[in-house]
Amino acid sequence: SKREEFFQKNILPLKTIEEVSEDVEKWASQKKEELENLRRNEEFRKEFLLNLSHELKTPIFAVQGYIHTLLDGALEDPNVNKLFLKNATKNIDRLCRLIDDLDEISKLESGEMTVNAEVFVIQDLIKDVFDTLSLKANTKGIKFSIKKGCEAPQPVYADKEKIRQVLINLVDNSIKYGKPDGHTIASIYSMDGKRVLIEISDDGIGMAEEHLPRVFERFYRTDRARSRDIGGTGLGLAIVKHIVEAHDQSITVRSKPEIGSTFGFTMESGRE
Ligand SMILES: Nc1ncnc2c1ncn2[C@@H]1O[C@H](COP(=O)(O)OP(=O)(O)OP(=O)(O)O)[C@@H](O)[C@H]1O
Ligand SMILES: [Mg+2]
Repeated sequence: SKREEFFQKNILPLKTIEEVSEDVEKWASQKKEELENLRRNEEFRKEFLLNLSHELKTPIFAVQGYIHTLLDGALEDPNVNKLFLKNATKNIDRLCRLIDDLDEISKLESGEMTVNAEVFVIQDLIKDVFDTLSLKANTKGIKFSIKKGCEAPQPVYADKEKIRQVLINLVDNSIKYGKPDGHTIASIYSMDGKRVLIEISDDGIGMAEEHLPRVFERFYRTDRARSRDIGGTGLGLAIVKHIVEAHDQSITVRSKPEIGSTFGFTMESGRE
């Protein structure tokens, strides 16, 4: 009958038992992956909170220490009173930077970032960033340059202010982790006509292989004590990676201890 025909065709499982069991296995492995993902995120979250409270604690306790010491009498001691206030201010500044970076990163992570792309010449922006950081570089004797052969104006299509932030972070790192009287070199390569590779290289302290897969994580630093002295929070590269990925591009790092580091990221070419 018509009814039987409909039942045979549409209600009865059309799959063989092997196909069904394959489906179930696929479903199970998918769920397993999901669970693993959740577990990993949970671990990440815990580590993040731990790092965060540690990062906040350090400057807050320092400020607390200085203020209590001042109130307990140091205020009247002209040898230390100004110095303690200065040190307290330094820690407050550090706290403010940390909060700014955190704000930035949570905006990026909630997917709030909008990319306002335009065409501009990447060398012009690099020179701008070099100018911005020239004072800091001078105090360490570090020289900036664009690699020979990479001078031909290269138009790119990207969010200029966001890429400025990327370059400032990378060049700032090349100074902070550079050697006195060292060099920071920017190179620009046209890849496949569609993309452009930008590299920022230094001849600084470099990093051991084991750190490389982790440097883009929030708060990750190869040497906590040293980079805290220099004023880093370990959020710079996490922000950089977010920005590059919001452009659907990628970033990588090569580095050797005592030889130097090269960070390279791709951009969309601005040539039609
Ligand atoms: N050019 C470099 N040479 C050597 N090590 C680097 C370089 N750039 C980054 N690193 C290492 O990677 C870590 C993470 O860099 P990131 O820019 O995220 O943090 P930061 O510079 O310490 O702080 P922030 O950028 O938030 O002020 C640094 O602490 C440092 O250990
Ligand atoms: Mg940095």
